[in-house]
Amino acid sequence: SKGNHRHFMLKEIYEQPIVVAQTLRSYLQRLEERVTLPVPDDFDLAAIRRVTIVACGTSFYAGMVAKYWFEQFARVPVDLDVASEFRYRAPVMEEAGLMIVISQSGETADTLAALRHAKAEGQKIAAVVNVPTSTMAREADLLLPTHAGPEIGVASTKAFTCQLAVLAALAANFARARGRLSPDEEREIVTHLAEAPAALNAALSYDEAIAAMAPAVAGARDVLYLGRGTDYPLALEGALKLKEISYIHAEGYAAGEMKHGPIALIDEAVPVIVIAPSGPLFEKTVSNMQEVQARGGKVVLISDAQGIAAAGKGCLATIEMPEAHPLIAPLVYAVPVQLLAYHVAVAKGTDVDQPRNLAKSVTVE
Ligand code: M6R
Repeated sequence: SKGNHRHFMLKEIYEQPIVVAQTLRSYLQRLEERVTLPVPDDFDLAAIRRVTIVACGTSFYAGMVAKYWFEQFARVPVDLDVASEFRYRAPVMEEAGLMIVISQSGETADTLAALRHAKAEGQKIAAVVNVPTSTMAREADLLLPTHAGPEIGVASTKAFTCQLAVLAALAANFARARGRLSPDEEREIVTHLAEAPAALNAALSYDEAIAAMAPAVAGARDVLYLGRGTDYPLALEGALKLKEISYIHAEGYAAGEMKHGPIALIDEAVPVIVIAPSGPLFEKTVSNMQEVQARGGKVVLISDAQGIAAAGKGCLATIEMPEAHPLIAPLVYAVPVQLLAYHVAVAKGTDVDQPRNLAKSVTVE
């Protein structure tokens, strides 16, 4: 049931602190300060030479965040594809390769076909899946479950943050297996991941503020989302959420790509949502944001207190997030993009849980 919430989507957004904690519990050994995956004896992470991540939609964006983490922490090369493209581009699959499929349902036809194709080519298969009885869960060599519980809303929310939690744990485990993580660094990762549920709670406390500014976006015909680094996949996810449930045309771009074309779209009628936590990439993204403002663009800045103090002036609106370590920032910043899409859709009166033309599980190729 929806409990006290008006829609399943909102209920599922609010469940995130609990289900992320639930998911992390099975991957973090808090007392030993270690990350432990349910890896079978014959599965040697240290022997993996290349990773291929394949998924669709929101699950694909979780994979995109994971690519940054795997490269940064484990220094393992990562290919990333949407499942429907993977099979038809003659991918080169080397020996000792690992395919990671990511799927809430575990039944998405394109992702399943990619899994089977890679398996036939001798790749090991890991599956980050929310439905434990699903086909992908059964066919994988290594099952890495998310414990988000049933997700009813067609727009995926809690499955995404749980996928990120599992993928962060996998990145850490990979890094350790490859001799790239000292016990101190591992302890730090465990500590920061364990902070995620509280940070998600803090992010949820901005719900009303986001609801209050949603009407400023609801009247737009087009909306752009910008981010850099792991905030780039979040920009894509924000745009997907908005178009899915509010039917407003939205696109996500890497902030630095704006000047290579999309900036031609900017005028005062196109809200631009900028996702920019303070940190090493902040200045760069802000300078892209200022290019937008110089052309009359109306910016909604999602950042922390420090970022908003530095760059919030002149914005149409700002959405303040709690301070978050860069490792958990993608989980935290998922919340405001979900809530913004939700409240815009509610303001427009669309069917939030059952958007037109969409199915929860896409079982045709
Ligand atoms: O069940 P899956 O995670 O494999 O589904 C993948 C996509 O169909 C799914 O994420 C879709 O994009 C959602 N409606 C996004 O909110």
